[in-house]
Parts: sequence; C-alpha cells; structure tokens
Amino acid sequence: MEIKNVCVVGAGLMGNGIAQVCAQAGYQVAMQDIEQRFVDGGMQAIQKNLSRNVKKGKITQDAMAQILARIKPTIDLKEAASIADVVIEVIIEVLDVKKALFGKLQKIVPSHCLFFTNTSGISITELASSSDRPERFIGTHFFNPVPVMRLLELIKGYETSDETLEIAKKWGQTLDKEVIIVNEAPAFAVNRVLCPMINEAFFALGEGVASAEDIDTGMRLGCNHPIGPLALADLVGLDTLLRVMEGLQSEFGDKYIPATMIRKLVRAGHLGRKTGKGVYDYTK
Ligand code: CAA
Ligand code: NAD
Repeated sequence: MEIKNVCVVGAGLMGNGIAQVCAQAGYQVAMQDIEQRFVDGGMQAIQKNLSRNVKKGKITQDAMAQILARIKPTIDLKEAASIADVVIEVIIEVLDVKKALFGKLQKIVPSHCLFFTNTSGISITELASSSDRPERFIGTHFFNPVPVMRLLELIKGYETSDETLEIAKKWGQTLDKEVIIVNEAPAFAVNRVLCPMINEAFFALGEGVASAEDIDTGMRLGCNHPIGPLALADLVGLDTLLRVMEGLQSEFGDKYIPATMIRKLVRAGHLGRKTGKGVYDYTK
C-alpha cells in the first residue's frame, strides 16, 4: 500500500511537528484540531521553524512555500480524514478521548486507511481493539521537538499485522527517522526509562535536595544530557508527563507514583513552555 495522503489529528506541540516532517517528505497533509486558534497556532509554529531553516540556508524560500502548500489546516474532521491513507492521532493523552476520536474516524476514512497513534504511554492494544481495524493499528511515537529528534518508536499492539509494521517502518524512514520496534508495554521503551528519571528529579526538588537550576546543571554537566530533567519536563508538558506516570503507576504500582509537585503544577495550569510557566518561567 502506498501512502500519499496523511491526516494529522491534533495541531499542538507534537501534531504540528509531525505535520511538518510529513510535508517535508512530500506527503499531502491535512492537519486538524478542534478550534481554529489551535490550527492557527500549529501553522504558526511550522512557519516559524521553516523560516528559521530558510535563514540558516538549510532550505530555500521556494521549498518552504512548497512544504506549506502541502499542509491543509482545518477544523473539519470529515474534510481532513475522508481521503486519508493514514491518520496519525496526536491529541491529548486521555484514553477515552482518543477512543472516541477513533470511533468517529472509522466512519469517515476509506477502508484501506491505517490508524497510527502518537500516544506517550497508553496501551496500543486497548486503543486498537476499540477500533474496527486492530490489525491496521500501530503506535508511532515521535519525540519532541519532532523536526529535530531522530527517533521513531514503533509499538506493536496485540493484533498489529506484520504488513502494518512494515508500512509504518518504511514511512518512518521516508521522514528521515531512525526506527526502533517495541512490543506492547506500559510507556513502551523510552518513556519507561525517561519519565521515572524526570519524576525523580521532581522528588529531589520537593525534598530540597538542590535547586531546580542545580539539579538541571548537574544532569547536563554530570551526565551529558542536552538539557536537565526539569527543563525537559517543561518542554514535554507536565500534563503529558503526569499522565505517563499515572499509567505506569496503575500498571506497576507505587514504585512509579507521580511526584506531588507535578500534580500541583498541573493543577495550577503551569504545564511548562506551552503555557509560559512550569518549573521555570518563560514569560520574561
Ligand atoms: N522545533 C524545531 N527545531 C528546534 C526546536 C523546535 N521546537 N528547538 C530547537 N530546534 C532546533 C534549532 O533550530 C537548532 O537547529 P540547528 O542545529 O539547525 O541550528 C537545533 O534544534 C538546536 O537548537 P538550539 O541550539 O536552539 O538549542 P539546543 O542546543 O538546546 O537544542 C534541543 C534544543 C534539540 C531541544 C535540545 O535541548 C535537546 O535535545 N533536548 C532534549 C530533547 C528531548 O529529550 N526530547 C525528548 C522528550 S520526551 C518525548 O518526546 C517523548 C514523550 O512521549 C514525552
Ligand atoms: P498538546 O496539548 O500540545 O496538543 C494536543 C492538541 O490536541 C491540542 O491542540 C488540542 O486542542 C487537540 N485536541 C484535543 N482533543 C482533540 C480532538 N478530539 N480532536 C482534535 N484535536 C484535539 O499535546 P502534545 O504535547 O502535542 O501531545 C499530543 C500527544 O502526543 C499526546 O498523546 C502526548 O502524550 C503525545 N506525545 C507528547 C510528547 C511531548 O513531548 N509533548 C512527546 C511524544 C508524544
């Protein structure tokens, strides 16, 4: 099966990055979100990224115009998905909301359409089995920021077919991503390791072990991480991080209990860079 038309549902942090890399690779992309302001925000982020690449001489102005012309922003799910060869779901990390979306999508998309999900940790098998095409359903986990991070983690659900895996693998390679293949497991491979590490940094902060700046400097200079775990939490979004930790806790128990400080910040609406404040203040 050849993929030509890609539908990205969700124009937030990850959705607009995925739409951008798909358009860069030559796919026709529809990018859908529930409100015009989210779609506009997604397009602005893509424009900003591409303009930076033009300024750096990485792409021409003409190439930028062509990439943008391949992306159709919309709030109309039917318009976005009706000719899709693949839908990539990139909406909020809430199981029931994702299930409801796939329920709507399966009434719209062509019968050959594949379902991909960019969930950070929700069971692919559970999402897939609630759809009408569990064998044509797979986890395609990108990393933030999508245009920069080289990895694509592919997660097989219980019924994902070998053919779907092969198509997803080839598609990922056309996006210039390095693919790893992971079996169904809570938080998959990377977040299983990464999110507890970030969570532990919040425990250390809450216990007064060191300041946020010193924890981050320690992990940057002591472990060669590009940014510290608390700054990374702000980049990822504390709401997403909390959901991943809650998923791990519900599967494995209190070894993975989310740090109270993450909950407090989420309740305060301080979700990180995307809201202007998280552990750090980005408004100044
Ligand atoms: N979008 C697109 N490009 C971006 C970007 C963004 N949001 N932010 C930075 N870049 C680009 C810059 O333009 C620059 O490009 P060039 O090399 O072409 O000049 C390059 O990235 C480096 O940027 P900077 O020099 O401005 O800053 P930096 O050196 O600090 O790098 C970073 C920024 C790449 C984000 C780096 O800090 C980093 O690697 N951080 C860790 C990211 C990470 O771990 N991501 C995974 C998060 S977990 C996840 O995604 C999974 C999940 O489910 C939660
Ligand atoms: P985000 O909050 O930036 O964006 C989510 C978008 O989904 C919002 O624009 C919202 O309006 C939209 N949305 C919500 N319900 C919708 C619906 N029914 N239909 C269409 N759009 C809807 O979140 P994000 O960081 O882009 O995360 C999206 C998904 O990607 C989540 O599943 C998350 O776990 C996963 N993910 C996030 C990261 C990260 O670092 N932030 C990394 C990998 C995977």
